[in-house]
Amino acid sequence: MTHEAGWAHAPGALRGPSWLREPHDPNALVEHLWPAGARKVDGELHVGGLPVADVVADVNTPAYLLDEHDFRSRARAFRDAFADWDVFYAGKAFLCTAVARWIQEEGLCLDVCSDGELTVALRGGVDPARIGYHGNNKTMGELRRALAAGVGRIIVDSFDEIERLVTLTGDAVSQGTPTARARVMVRVTAGVEAHTHEYIATAHEDQKFGFSISNGQAFDAVRRVLDAPGLELLGLHSHIGSQIFDSAGFEVATRRVLALHARVADELGATLPEMDLGGGFGIAYTTQDDPATPARLAEEMRAIVEHECRALGIAAPHLSIEPGRAIVGPAMCTVYTVGTVKPVQLDGGAVRTYVSVDGGMSDNIRTALYDADYSCTLANRPSDAAPVLARVVGKHCEAGDIVVKDEFLPGDVRPGDLLAVPATGAYCRSMASNYNHALRPPVVAVRDGVARVVVRRETVDDLLATDLGDQA
Ligand code: LLP
Repeated sequence: MTHEAGWAHAPGALRGPSWLREPHDPNALVEHLWPAGARKVDGELHVGGLPVADVVADVNTPAYLLDEHDFRSRARAFRDAFADWDVFYAGKAFLCTAVARWIQEEGLCLDVCSDGELTVALRGGVDPARIGYHGNNKTMGELRRALAAGVGRIIVDSFDEIERLVTLTGDAVSQGTPTARARVMVRVTAGVEAHTHEYIATAHEDQKFGFSISNGQAFDAVRRVLDAPGLELLGLHSHIGSQIFDSAGFEVATRRVLALHARVADELGATLPEMDLGGGFGIAYTTQDDPATPARLAEEMRAIVEHECRALGIAAPHLSIEPGRAIVGPAMCTVYTVGTVKPVQLDGGAVRTYVSVDGGMSDNIRTALYDADYSCTLANRPSDAAPVLARVVGKHCEAGDIVVKDEFLPGDVRPGDLLAVPATGAYCRSMASNYNHALRPPVVAVRDGVARVVVRRETVDDLLATDLGDQA
C-alpha cells in the first residue's frame, strides 16, 4: 500500500501495470493469445470460421467458445513433440465428453482426479487403460471404482491410500477374483516449488501433495508398494506446479526424482519401468507471457533427462507428462455482453472505466483467486474512439469480482457490446460456480464455420433440482 487512503489513490495507479502498453489500434488482436485462425473482420471477432456475434446470437452470453481445430492441434503438437513419451491430458483444466473423445482420437492419454472426471472420461469413450487417476484423498469407493474400471495407473499420494489399495486388492485375491494387480505410481515431492517466473528450492514441502523425497517418506512408500503383492509399481511421479515458464524447476525436480529412481534400483533391486514428470507448462494470457512451444519443451526435457541419467549411469525409464492448460487454455475464449459502463473518478481526477459484463467470478474465478491477468477485445464492431484504460468486472456481489484488471478498450464501449476474453480454456469452466445462483455458461465448439453446443447452459431447473424445499 503506497498511499494512506489505499492503493487506488496511489500516484500513477491509472497508468495500469507497467507491462500494459496502450495499443496503436485497440481493434487489433494480439494474435498469439487466441486460437489459431481467430481474426477481426471489419472489427468483428471471428473464431473457428464464425463471427462470435452470430454464435452468441444463438446461445446468448456469457459463453465459452472452444476452437476444436486449435485444441486438437495443440494436443497433437504435444503428442508429436513427445513422440516416445506418453502425454496425459490433465482433465482438471477442462473436461467434457466431447473433449475426452478428441483426446482419445488424437492418441493422448488422460489424467483424471475424481470420480466425476473418471465418469466423464469413460462416457467419452476413453480407454481405461490410458487413464491415470490422481488425488490426495481417494476414498475406498473411488479406488474400488477405479480398479473395477481398469484404469491404467493410480498415482498414490499417502500411506493411507496405499493401505486402502492393499485391502482392496487383497479382498479380490481372497475372494478368488482373478483381477489384475493395481498399477501404481508413487507421487513424490521433489522439494521444488515452481512459481510463474521462478522456482524456489526451499520452503516447498509444506503442502498436501506427495511423499517427500528429502525426509525419506518417498523411499518408504516405494518399499511399501513393492512389498504389496496386489500392487504393481510402475514408477515415480512428480508435478512441480502450474503456469511455469522456466525449465530450471523441472531440472532440479528431475534430478532428484531420478536419483530416487536409481536408489530404488540399487537398494531394493527394482528397476521401475516408468516415470511421470507432471504438467504445468505456461501459456500466454497477456503480452507479458512468452511460453515455449511443445517442441522446445520436449527438447529441453529430453536433454535434462539424458544428462541426469548419464550422470547416474542408468537407463532412462519410459517417461510421461501431463499438460492441461497448455492444450486447452488458448483454445477457448469467453464472450460476454456489456451491461453498464461506469466512469469512476479517483483522487487526482483520473478516471477508471468500469465495464460490467453479464458473467464474472462464477465463470472465471482465476482473477479473484490468483490475481491472474487477462486481456480482452471488443468483439462486435470496429471503433475509432481513443482507447481508455478499463477494468472489466462481473455482476456478482463482490468488489473483487474482476474479470480483466486492466485493458485498453475503445472509449465508446457501451451497453450491448460484446467483449471476448482469450485464453479462458483452462480452469475457468472447470472451476465455475453457481455463486449468486448464476447459471454456468455453455461451451460451444466451433470448427470450419460450424458451431455445436458441447456443454449446454444450465437452467433454473438445473439449479432447483437439488433444492428439496422444506419437507417438514
Ligand atoms: N498433473 C498434476 C498432478 C496436476 O496436479 C496438474 C494441475 C496438472 C498435471 C496439470 O497442470 P497444467 O499443465 O494444467 O498447469 N487452478 C489453477 C491450476 C491448478 C493446477 C492443479 N494441478 C489455475 O487456474 O491456475
